[in-house]
Amino acid sequence: MSQIDQKNAAESEHQTNDQSVSTTDGETVEETRPEWTEYDTDAETKLAVEGLDVYYDDDHALKDVSMEIPERSVTALIGPSGCGKSTFLRCLNRMNDRIRSANVDGTVELDGTDIYDGDVDLVELRKRVGMVFQSPNPFPKSIRDNVSYGPRKHGDIETGVLSRLTGRDGSEREAELVERSLRQAALWSEVEDRLSDNALGLSGGQQQRLCIARCLAVDPEVILMDEPASALDPIATSRIEDLIAELSEEYTVVIVTHSMQQAARVSDQTAVFLTGGELVEYDDTERIFEAPESQRVADYISGKFG
Ligand SMILES: Nc1ncnc2c1ncn2[C@@H]1O[C@H](COP(=O)(O)OP(=O)(O)O)[C@@H](O)[C@H]1O
Ligand SMILES: [Mg+2]
Repeated sequence: MSQIDQKNAAESEHQTNDQSVSTTDGETVEETRPEWTEYDTDAETKLAVEGLDVYYDDDHALKDVSMEIPERSVTALIGPSGCGKSTFLRCLNRMNDRIRSANVDGTVELDGTDIYDGDVDLVELRKRVGMVFQSPNPFPKSIRDNVSYGPRKHGDIETGVLSRLTGRDGSEREAELVERSLRQAALWSEVEDRLSDNALGLSGGQQQRLCIARCLAVDPEVILMDEPASALDPIATSRIEDLIAELSEEYTVVIVTHSMQQAARVSDQTAVFLTGGELVEYDDTERIFEAPESQRVADYISGKFG
């Protein structure tokens, strides 16, 4: 072997070793492969995300994310803190529009129509794509008013003297809608005889189910949930998880969770985001947890970092 060959051999050996070197976050260095995020399913696509980049000023929070979310199923988004899960979720109903420093590039199609088109009605969009947040945030109003808030705002229910005079009194319709939504959110039996009580008197788990009922009352198609059970005790968490499974028969649910056990329990497919805002792997939940293709995802799932 010539000296140059020896040097090259040494260098390539060095490079091979580099592949298994850890970063300061404890992640293995690896190149991501596009095929890791291609996901084949027979179900219809509800949301198709293509080449999505998000910047907060100069901070590149999401990098070229493409992902198809099938309808009537639960899609979990997991990954270490700060990897862009909430940012991604907010892109799906343009909540990032409200963050002044945020800049979104790419397309998000809902039933084939780009929600970032200039003529999209944001009120209508957020009606179709509802959101439930990490801490339950009911309004300081009655349980009934929390649920009917959305439909009233959208003009679907009118009540009061004027509506009675003009024969458009919606009290009955309101009662039906409130009951239906609370039943769907598995809360009805606990609150049916105190609908006029202030929602803030409910337990944390009940408040979160009330927020889900509020979201359901406007007949959404997609429900986005950002760590919806992270502030709840195990029993309340388990009720929310059961509810998510039920809802996915009718709705498309996308849930961010920091709990891998929760993702494994509730979701049909799982997307793993890693540090730097990359979507690294996306597949059937079982496959992601049993046989991930990415070493970094395997490390993350086995608790080596994150
Ligand atoms: N409103 C914001 N303004 C500026 N930077 C933000 C904002 N929200 C998130 N970021 C940054 O974007 C990156 C991704 O954050 P986020 O989407 O909240 O991650 P995750 O939900 O996975 O913890 C982080 O570096 C975070 O600091
Ligand atoms: Mg988050």
